[in-house]
Order: sequence, then C-alpha cells, then structure tokens
Amino acid sequence: MSNPETPLRMDDLPAVESVHLVKSLDLNHHGTLYAGRMAEWVVEVGFLTTRAALRCSPDHLVCLRIHDLDFRHRVEKGASLRLRGEVVHVGRTSITVHVEAFPFQPDGSEETTTDALLTYVHIVEGEARPHGLEVEPPESPRLRRWWKAALEARKRR
Ligand SMILES: CC(C)(COP(=O)(O)OP(=O)(O)OC[C@H]1O[C@@H](n2cnc3c(N)ncnc32)[C@H](O)[C@@H]1OP(=O)(O)O)[C@@H](O)C(=O)NCCC(=O)NCCS
Repeated sequence: MSNPETPLRMDDLPAVESVHLVKSLDLNHHGTLYAGRMAEWVVEVGFLTTRAALRCSPDHLVCLRIHDLDFRHRVEKGASLRLRGEVVHVGRTSITVHVEAFPFQPDGSEETTTDALLTYVHIVEGEARPHGLEVEPPESPRLRRWWKAALEARKRR
C-alpha cells in the first residue's frame, strides 16, 4: 500500500502501456477484434496502472466497475494496438483510470480505437480499505477535465 509522507501530484503518477498483436484467436465471428478480448486488455492495463500508482500487491486490488467502454473503430487481424492507462481520479479506497487504445503505427498517428474509464478498489480480506495514496488535485487542464469526467461517471449508476 502506498503511504507517501506528502501528497503526490496527480500529474506525476505513472502511466502504463501495453502492446498487443491481433491474432486469429482474438477475433469475433466478423473476423475483426472481439470486444471481449479488447475488454480484457483494457481491464488488464487499467489494473497495472492502478497497481503502479499504489505500489501494492495484486492481492489487494479488484476491478469494481468498467464505465463507458466505447469501441469506436473495428480492428483487423494483424493490427497492433497500443493501450495506455492513466490515473484520473483518486478516492479513499478507489482509483479511477482512463484507458485508451491506439493503432501502433510507425508514423505515430494516434486515432483512438477504444477508450474507457475503470474503477479499482483497494481491498483487505475482501473488504474495501483505504489505499493511503494522497494526491494534490490535478494541475493540467487535461487532467482536471478527466477528474471531473471520472466523478460524473462514478455518479451514474
Ligand atoms: C470492490 C468491493 C470490495 C467494494 O465493496 P463495497 O462494499 O461496494 O465498497 P464501498 O461501498 O466501501 O465502496 C468502495 C469504493 O468504491 C466506490 N464505489 C462504490 N460503488 C461504485 C460505483 N458503482 N461506481 C464507482 N465507484 C463506486 C466508492 O465510492 C468507494 O470509493 P472511495 O472510498 O474512494 O470513495 C465489492 O464491491 C466487491 O468485492 N466486488 C467484486 C469485485 C470483483 O470481483 N471484481 C472482479 C470482477 S470479475
């Protein structure tokens, strides 16, 4: 569990990335990337982003909610995807992460294929418990917008 002496800056929390090659076993009946596989990759990178922020054992984290998972473009077999997770809200026991997926392009083009907000909870013996991470409110306008969006998403039930 994280327990820094002074609050960290939101802007300094680490982002986590993963890269996946879309193979035959990742496809749906249309022959394009299966939503369930993409959801798995999104949840995984979100989990690792939360873990990197809290520096805790995986035993102490669970995914509570996937908010607003959008599949904006289909992805063909043979494509490579880069996923990037970033902490956008820190609560007392929970953390909300924004995950975006982009085509992994040598030219660096970054049209978002999929994005989602996900909330993870720090647990001890199966119960939600404070994670101990304290952050200053975000400074950059981009992260401020995401903090607000995460709060709105968390309110929607
Ligand atoms: C995660 C779990 C322990 C939380 O238990 P709980 O009794 O609901 O916990 P709380 O009500 O104390 O809420 C915990 C945190 O989640 C937040 N939360 C609760 N419901 C939420 C929701 N629907 N959306 C977003 N955040 C929510 C709370 O605000 C709180 O965050 P905070 O302390 O940072 O403010 C429990 O729901 C659980 O075990 N779920 C199953 C998890 C799982 O198996 N995941 C894998 C799925 S395959």
